[in-house]
Amino acid sequence: MTTRFTIPRPYDLHVHWRDDDRTALAVPHTVAQCAGAVVMPNLVPPVRTVADVDAYLSRLSPYLTEGFAPMMTLYLTDDTTVEDIAAAAAHPRVVGCKLYPAGATTNSHAGVTDLQALRPVLEAMAERGMVLLAHGEVLAGPGVDIFEKEARWVETQLTWLTQTVPELKISCEHMTSAVMAEFVGSAGPNVGGSVTPQHLLYDRNDLLEGGIKPHLYCLPILKKHTDRAALWRLVKDQHPRVWAGTDSAPHTRGRKECACGCAGCYSAYDMVSLYAEAFDRELGLGASAVQANFREFVAVRGAEFYGMEVSAETLTVVAEPQVVPSHYDLAGGDTVVPLCAGETLGWSVVSE
Ligand code: NCD
Ligand code: ZN
Repeated sequence: MTTRFTIPRPYDLHVHWRDDDRTALAVPHTVAQCAGAVVMPNLVPPVRTVADVDAYLSRLSPYLTEGFAPMMTLYLTDDTTVEDIAAAAAHPRVVGCKLYPAGATTNSHAGVTDLQALRPVLEAMAERGMVLLAHGEVLAGPGVDIFEKEARWVETQLTWLTQTVPELKISCEHMTSAVMAEFVGSAGPNVGGSVTPQHLLYDRNDLLEGGIKPHLYCLPILKKHTDRAALWRLVKDQHPRVWAGTDSAPHTRGRKECACGCAGCYSAYDMVSLYAEAFDRELGLGASAVQANFREFVAVRGAEFYGMEVSAETLTVVAEPQVVPSHYDLAGGDTVVPLCAGETLGWSVVSE
């Protein structure tokens, strides 16, 4: 049992920083732990062009530090052009484009209604080595159950995408289902995907059994224990293109604990300890082989897919329990309740 090990400072490869008083909470949390992050563009209005990226970066700049790399994404719409892609590819901070099927999640109403019509844009991205970050869900409705949205997307959209634009680099964001895990697990080198802490820690029983837990409600929704097991198989087998991306998505307490609550878990406050807790419960993080896998999953595999340098700076992960705060205060008076609020995590990060 090794109770202390180091990892490179990770990248959070999927994070929501918002554009209001939640930004002042979320960005410093990410910056404190990470070498960089891939920042989601689902603001209101969305980040659609490089001009929007530059404006957002300047609003973020008070919270950023010199050594930190904020990597940005454009929000694809039905109106995105090949010229938008050329400009994005030339921008030093833009790594890819985020695909939100219209209506699939928070602030996605301006998203894509017809992926096939976007083929020239997708081909332009592939030519330039840009990553398509996919929120892989179809809409729920008659014939499509909310728990099946991801599997249906794999069958109807991802299969088409990989056949039609085979050179396109695709990151399947926040994988949740066995169908997705199996697709990514056997796909070629252009396809990978991220896994959140909540989808490694929980299944839908945790969300619904014994009372609804609004702070475990996120999209894609937690699935069955067999789906969670399929994600763990990829992680345990050290799949080279499966990596950490928190999907940390802060909403105020009032918008989570209400009759129609928002989707999203806030995990950026300490992503490394949350993933450490997940690895410890599932695999036992005291074993040095598990620590080596953890290091690659959290800090190396995703960076390599994106072509980012693995950080030379390190964090030390120690088997020291910590209690997660019950909430974080926002400047406007609201609060954000983090994932695992009030619970004890078995591992912590120390700076040394
Ligand atoms: C995200 C949000 O709140 O922006 N919510 C979530 O449940 N993950 C949007 C998203 O990534 O789907
Ligand atoms: Zn997200």
